[in-house]
Amino acid sequence: MGGTRGMLIVFEGLDRSGKSTQCEKLVQTLRNEGEKVEHMQFPNRTTPIGQMINEYLTGESQQEDHVIHLLFSANRWESAQAIENHIRAGTTVVIDRYSYSGCVYSAAKQNKAMDLEWCRQPEEGLPRPDLCLFLDLSSEEAAKRGGFGTERYEKQDLQARVRELYTEMRQHEDEREDIVVVNAGQSIEEVQCEVLKVVKEARRQLDTQGLELRHMR
Ligand code: ADP
Ligand code: TYD
Ligand code: MG
Repeated sequence: MGGTRGMLIVFEGLDRSGKSTQCEKLVQTLRNEGEKVEHMQFPNRTTPIGQMINEYLTGESQQEDHVIHLLFSANRWESAQAIENHIRAGTTVVIDRYSYSGCVYSAAKQNKAMDLEWCRQPEEGLPRPDLCLFLDLSSEEAAKRGGFGTERYEKQDLQARVRELYTEMRQHEDEREDIVVVNAGQSIEEVQCEVLKVVKEARRQLDTQGLELRHMR
């Protein structure tokens, strides 16, 4: 298979760290270079499970903490086969949030038994990103980019715990080799340039090593 398979690239980071902006730009750049690229985001609010998640996030419905955690994970599992098919067909998949969000936001609720380890379990077996670009920005810097919206997790204390848990997760032995930290406090163009460099390097490594798509463990 070697260099012919697509890459799985995900963007992570706090709210307003620039994930959606950079996802869009990377997808455009790669497409302009003639690469086949699929752009996805989680939660995928278009499926029945995604609609339940949307209602939870907007406050229209309540869910028990474990239940909503498993719904977020199920929402990724709904797309797992499609992601694999794209990658095998040579299409690169760029995703706005993935399992890392799934773990840190749930663990940040400090519900007794729901630590990071528990939260990782339902993610095991999902397609594993070749590269996770972590857009790093302090919550103070993020706050300067405009006020919080009205969604459930857009609160300062929760966001601060999310940031700490992202840091913890970046040190986890199963995650750290996939994650590259990018300083998201630079201009949009500077971040874009750094992101592209990291993506090209990851592509080079993949082509040299001829790695098959792996799965989360
Ligand atoms: P996210 O998807 O991580 O929540 P967005 O890409 O939606 O973040 O960006 C949040 C806001 O910050 C938007 O108004 C966007 O235009 C702005 N923004 C994105 N990147 C930068 C940057 N590097 N510097 C300044 N503002 C930015
Ligand atoms: P998103 O629509 O990406 O928000 P934003 O563009 O502001 O970054 O994500 C919605 C919220 O869902 C966000 O607060 C993070 C949270 N989330 C989880 O709690 N678990 C998950 O598995 C995912 C993918 C997101
Ligand atoms: Mg976004």
